[in-house]
Amino acid sequence: MESLLCRRLSLKQRYSLLLCLAIGAVLAYQLTRSRPVERRMSRVEGLTANSSQFTLERKPFRILGGSIHYFRVPRAYWEDRLLKMKACGLNTLTTYVPWNLHEPERGAFNFEDELDLEAYLRLAASLGLWVILRPGPYICSEWDLGGLPSWLLRDPNMKLRTTYPGFTEAVNSFFNQLIKKVVPHQYSKGGPIIAVQVENEYGAYAQDEEYMAFVKQALLSRGVTELLLTSDNKDGLKLGGVKGVLETINFQRLNQDDIKYLERVQPQMPKMVMEYWTGWFDLWGELHHVFAAEDMVAVVREVLKLDMSINLYMFHGGTNFGFMNGAAAVGVTLPKPMVTSYDYDAPLSEAGDYTTKYHLLRNLFSLYHTQPLPEPPSVQERRAYQPVVVQQHLSLWDSLHFADKPLKSERPVNMENLPVSNNNGQSYGYTLYETTITSGGYLNSENNVRDRALVFVDKHFIGVLDYKTQELSLPDGKGKRTLSLLVENCGRVNYGKTLDEQRKGLVGDIKLNKRALRDFIIHSLSMKPGFVNRLESSRHWTSMRQRPSLPGYFRASLYLNTYPKDTFVKLPGWSKGVVFINGKNLGRYWSIGPQQTLYVPGPWLHRGDNQVIVFEEQETDGKIQFTSSPDYGMSVDV
Ligand code: GLA
Repeated sequence: MESLLCRRLSLKQRYSLLLCLAIGAVLAYQLTRSRPVERRMSRVEGLTANSSQFTLERKPFRILGGSIHYFRVPRAYWEDRLLKMKACGLNTLTTYVPWNLHEPERGAFNFEDELDLEAYLRLAASLGLWVILRPGPYICSEWDLGGLPSWLLRDPNMKLRTTYPGFTEAVNSFFNQLIKKVVPHQYSKGGPIIAVQVENEYGAYAQDEEYMAFVKQALLSRGVTELLLTSDNKDGLKLGGVKGVLETINFQRLNQDDIKYLERVQPQMPKMVMEYWTGWFDLWGELHHVFAAEDMVAVVREVLKLDMSINLYMFHGGTNFGFMNGAAAVGVTLPKPMVTSYDYDAPLSEAGDYTTKYHLLRNLFSLYHTQPLPEPPSVQERRAYQPVVVQQHLSLWDSLHFADKPLKSERPVNMENLPVSNNNGQSYGYTLYETTITSGGYLNSENNVRDRALVFVDKHFIGVLDYKTQELSLPDGKGKRTLSLLVENCGRVNYGKTLDEQRKGLVGDIKLNKRALRDFIIHSLSMKPGFVNRLESSRHWTSMRQRPSLPGYFRASLYLNTYPKDTFVKLPGWSKGVVFINGKNLGRYWSIGPQQTLYVPGPWLHRGDNQVIVFEEQETDGKIQFTSSPDYGMSVDV
């Protein structure tokens, strides 16, 4: 038959036919591969909350969810982490969307590479996971400013999370970009998204009665058609809801009264714990939080017995890479920054390892499946690479050539209002404020340092100004001297009522002997990849044989002659700073702990020379060490 047909066709036609057949076969294969069994069913009715139980396609459905944030996991590991989720018996992935990463400058959007949300959604679908999307715009999540872009704070009257026009216009413009990417991945369109969350724990903020209705409408008007829900802790339930949207609850310990309360505010509706906290986050200078596996799983068991749906926050926490960690507002005046790791003592560790929690949960969830669960993927290998010796250093002062042109200003200007990043201000990192002084005396910060400043006179270190230490004594000296304040934004508060006050750098006058200092030169040091690249190729590096000047950059090479594996950096003998490997910012380290190691994902390394650059503020021992297991510090039960 084939040859009969072929004989009647010209050579050119035969080639075209073959080509079409081949393309058809590839397409058919890809279609079946990317569509798991669940996806082939007809789409009539998505997740519905009309009675005390959810239904999906009109059949009872229980959400067994887990949170993994794509922006906290290297893209090369997304699949591994989701496969592990699936193998644990979960059926739904939940993720926030971080506005501040997706729109780093007003009107400049990034949905590429590690921020390719659509690829993440497609991956979840291909593995047979449903998705509950939590697009904010505010997400909390121990993330700088709860996910809001810092450029919003350029407006002196900004009222975040309200219907203040300066805020709603910015949300509308972001949602115009975001929601059109989300819409095609909804259940009704054949995608994995079965529900979308409206804002996040607004009941705990509740500054504007109209705001939740605005966010709801912002989603609906752009084509979100799946079930909407809100998420609040018990106390927030009263004010966090919005008409026509399902309320869910957040907690760690099960309190029957809280469940009864949810039932009372929302009778005859499905009950869901949107955030069941599997562990907790850590703050610099405090202890590492752990939550005993048996206690945690016992609560999950109870929740399931109550016929509730559940989402494990976090199932896998990952890492606050870069400068993206948030801070906790302890009192109004003393924010405490989050550490770099977001391990969270979650069922899957920061580096994707199985934990006791994982195994116990898998046993438990397997009881809720009719089919055996898939085998968990094999564990990743980890390496303790040999320590490397720092070869070169470059002082902070010499690195200034590679930064943006400094600003001259009579008064201090806060980070967000600096004329950098196409007039979006500086978002993260350090800012150096310099001025000339002609005497010593008392330097008083007037509590205008956000958050921590290293103070120098003619490059000699004097001391640290922060929330606790607001005055330093400057030594007397002759003539004109340069006073430098290297101010670090340690992370903006992500929860609580002080969001509008999260401007960083110097937010007001600094006084010397009660007189406000004037005439500053301000260097913005956000340490973005472009800057780190320029630094790398600079000829200003000097050998470690000369006494290094601090603060400074320290360069070493990690040579690998085998396929790279995950590892952790350890810096005993160093004090505080940031580590970059091959230009990637791994995050901050700080000897006060609790965290003592930084996660280095294998996919960010390569065979041959890997460039390690450490920015250190005060102290170095000239060696960079690697270890195969993390050290999160001394632990305490939550
Ligand atoms: C709340 C928030 C989350 C997170 C947790 C604590 O529930 O909604 O984003 O901050 O607290 O980890």
